[in-house]
Amino acid sequence: MNYRHGYHAGNFADVVKHIALVAILQHLKKKDAAFTVLDSHAGRGRYDLTGEQAGKTGEARAGIARLNGLSGPMPEALATYLSLARQSHAYPGSPLIAAQLLRSQDRLIAIEKHPEEFAVLKDVLMPFRGATVENADGYARAVKLLPPPSRRGLVLMDPPFESPDEFSALAKALREGLRKFATGIFLAWYPIKSQAEADGFTGEVLAGGITKALVVDTRITAPEGKLGRSGLLVITPPSGFAATMQDAARVIATRLGTAVTVQWITGSE
Ligand SMILES: C[S@@+](CC[C@H](N)C(=O)[O-])C[C@H]1O[C@@H](n2cnc3c(N)ncnc32)[C@H](O)[C@@H]1O
Repeated sequence: MNYRHGYHAGNFADVVKHIALVAILQHLKKKDAAFTVLDSHAGRGRYDLTGEQAGKTGEARAGIARLNGLSGPMPEALATYLSLARQSHAYPGSPLIAAQLLRSQDRLIAIEKHPEEFAVLKDVLMPFRGATVENADGYARAVKLLPPPSRRGLVLMDPPFESPDEFSALAKALREGLRKFATGIFLAWYPIKSQAEADGFTGEVLAGGITKALVVDTRITAPEGKLGRSGLLVITPPSGFAATMQDAARVIATRLGTAVTVQWITGSE
């Protein structure tokens, strides 16, 4: 477990993933009924972009930092994401973004395996009554916790892709999770190093019998040896999600140099 998200926090992939997270949570908040967010690989929750890790890669400088001062018409999800990212003293990770958007009836369970990252996460989420943290294996624990008592919600799976079998572990966890919580929204992040590998992964998940899913594919021109493309697999996306992501992508494209495509891989709006 050498991965530390601090090297990548606020990069192009985080920006798109976190806009998607906000868009989904805003959709869930349209109804009064409670929802649950399960964040299986939560990270530390807050990242110092002036620190050594961010400084070493410069990924945030090419990501969230380029959105400083962005204004004008934009989708609500992007505006909310930017205001959360600007409010914090440091860049908010997925569990902190979710915690800040919960209402009193909603719950967040954030799971993180690395003991040091977990210790920070625990402190970061301490002020949020609806949030609990667990130091455990994210896949096994998230699947075990499904379906949530609220029967509405989002499962975010954002593993580090350190091990060669991460794609199959993620596909397996998504399929098991969906078996237990078929009405849930699932959001999974993955690196795209080859189209064949990405298609193999989404195909394996779809074989579980999903009827509605789309992929958000984001590319940038990255320096040699750096990740320049990533995907979000969104299962049972909320209505209007695809359009929101396309609109947000148009607004950030020039500043970030991102090319984003949103494509249904099964079903449609
Ligand atoms: C990509 S980062 C998560 C970033 C976070 N979701 C965000 O958007 O801010 C992946 C995290 O998973 C943690 N991790 C690695 N293996 C894990 C496992 N088996 N279960 C839970 N967490 C794990 C890593 O320590 C790392 O903090």
